[in-house]
Amino acid sequence: MKKDFIAITDMSRDEIMKTFELTKVLKEEVKNNIPHKRLEGQSLAMIFAKPSARTRVSFETGMFQLGGHALYLSPNDIGIGKREAVKDIARVLSRYNSGIMARLFEHKHMEEMAENATVPVINGLTDYNHPCQVMADIFTVLEHRGNLNDLKVAFVGDGNNVANSWINLAARLPMHFVLASPSGYDPSPEALANAEEAGISEIEILHDPAEAVKDADVIYTDVWASMGQEKEKEERMKAFMPFQVNTDLMSHAKNDCLVMHCLPAHRNEEITDEVLDGPHSIVFDEAENRMHVQKAILVQLMES
Ligand code: CP
Ligand code: NVA
Repeated sequence: MKKDFIAITDMSRDEIMKTFELTKVLKEEVKNNIPHKRLEGQSLAMIFAKPSARTRVSFETGMFQLGGHALYLSPNDIGIGKREAVKDIARVLSRYNSGIMARLFEHKHMEEMAENATVPVINGLTDYNHPCQVMADIFTVLEHRGNLNDLKVAFVGDGNNVANSWINLAARLPMHFVLASPSGYDPSPEALANAEEAGISEIEILHDPAEAVKDADVIYTDVWASMGQEKEKEERMKAFMPFQVNTDLMSHAKNDCLVMHCLPAHRNEEITDEVLDGPHSIVFDEAENRMHVQKAILVQLMES
């Protein structure tokens, strides 16, 4: 039976921790130039319905390091759900490739892709979630803190796809997760209900960023208008300005708190230069870890 990775909840707690053990091994190997061609002769089709830098480059380079090959399919190539039905492209790509990675608008298209592909499907972001991102995020927190005990994460900004993946993670790993967003920009009710049902984390939705960051180990932010929401940019700018991660907000946080952002950042909108380039920021370790964590996911799903 093939396995997919389209949401963090596709993995158990043990599987998540095993992914991180493998990530550490693969990261050591690449740093020490030790060959680890565990996917020799395999290929990954990468469908992008939206732009990308990190996701494309980290998957493509990761597949190369694993001895395989990745193919980039641009927004003009496939036309998911428009030029061709999702289930047809899933079946066709399964005949050529050993795996499919996709960045799509609609999450239901991702589910349809996984249902119809006969090879593993990995989610590289949808309007609903961004599981590879948050796997790399929590791995980065683990590297910096040494453990995930008594972790408080304050996500300051939009209740968007990245926030939903954090909430999915809170259904698998215990944490105190606080989202501070303007009213009306809440995360997915399904993700919240699922995490509440799992019952292992404390989850709060607040509207006061200073209160949210108090005692937080991690302050996380992301753009105010995600890809596909460009038309709402002006209105969002007004609603989100009080939620900017800046020096003033940092004065309410712990001295050793970590600052994270999935990137790309809109500098001096959701986060100021001073904070992004400052001593608390671990955003480039976070970006690097996308590749190491995704390589572990690829090996787990595709190694024969
Ligand atoms: N963080 C992230 O997914 O970046 P890209 O959109 O550049 O892939
Ligand atoms: N929330 C952002 C994340 C980009 C990696 C977006 O969807 O555009």
